[in-house]
Amino acid sequence: MSQNKILAFNWKTNPISFAQALGLFKSYKSQFELLENWDQIVFPPFVYLYSLMGIVKRGEINATLGAQDISEFDSGAHTAQVSGPMIADLGCKYVLIGHSETRSEFLTTSFDTAHKIEAALRNQLLPLLCVGFEPQIDGENINFEELKEQIVTAFEPNVEDLNKLDEIIIAYEPTWAIGTGKTPTVKVIEKVIDFVLNTIETNFGKEISQKTRVLYGGSVNETNIAEFAKSDKIAGFLIGGASLDPQKVGNIANSLI
Ligand code: PGA
Repeated sequence: MSQNKILAFNWKTNPISFAQALGLFKSYKSQFELLENWDQIVFPPFVYLYSLMGIVKRGEINATLGAQDISEFDSGAHTAQVSGPMIADLGCKYVLIGHSETRSEFLTTSFDTAHKIEAALRNQLLPLLCVGFEPQIDGENINFEELKEQIVTAFEPNVEDLNKLDEIIIAYEPTWAIGTGKTPTVKVIEKVIDFVLNTIETNFGKEISQKTRVLYGGSVNETNIAEFAKSDKIAGFLIGGASLDPQKVGNIANSLI
């Protein structure tokens, strides 16, 4: 298992032109060079993946690319779906699965995430499962039941194949923190991470929990990342909004050196 922490950038449906996507991606080059002990993963929209992969393959930037979603089907009559073989053929290594925006906008259920994990693993792609929950009552209030359901339902049918992986990555992203500027405290994040790992150990065994790494995502930015990064339990970050601004990415990189 890589000892590096993970810095993952989720561009969502941004930026709106290829020229801007290219400029943004190239702006990461010097920042990523500063971060020796971090693995950088970028999740651009599907339409930019092919061209950005060319830059990675030519060794012009030290990053790994991933897809923001995956169809549970490999091919066939599934209009608008992008499949595992297509994503793998491009050279992607990771796929985001169950991001809260796909859960709410495309009604992706936990059962769907199980099928998507299966599709990823069938195509030698590493799933990055996003889990989280909606209600924030006082910032300390954690919906453990929902977290457990999301993890157990997604992993249960895939345990045998997940066991064969060197590492399993989960991103804890409380829905109320995404794009809002609000974040849980480090203490709460650590409590959730303990819960995630315990849930995996109880349901699927120690071996699989020991190779699980949990990232935090939700309004991570250049001003709060240094505080989060002090925690040994947080294995890295999934960053949305701040990843679209080269200056913020520069400040993020500087505070992680
Ligand atoms: P945010 O998004 O950093 O804009 O809150 C994180 C995510 O949705 O992955």
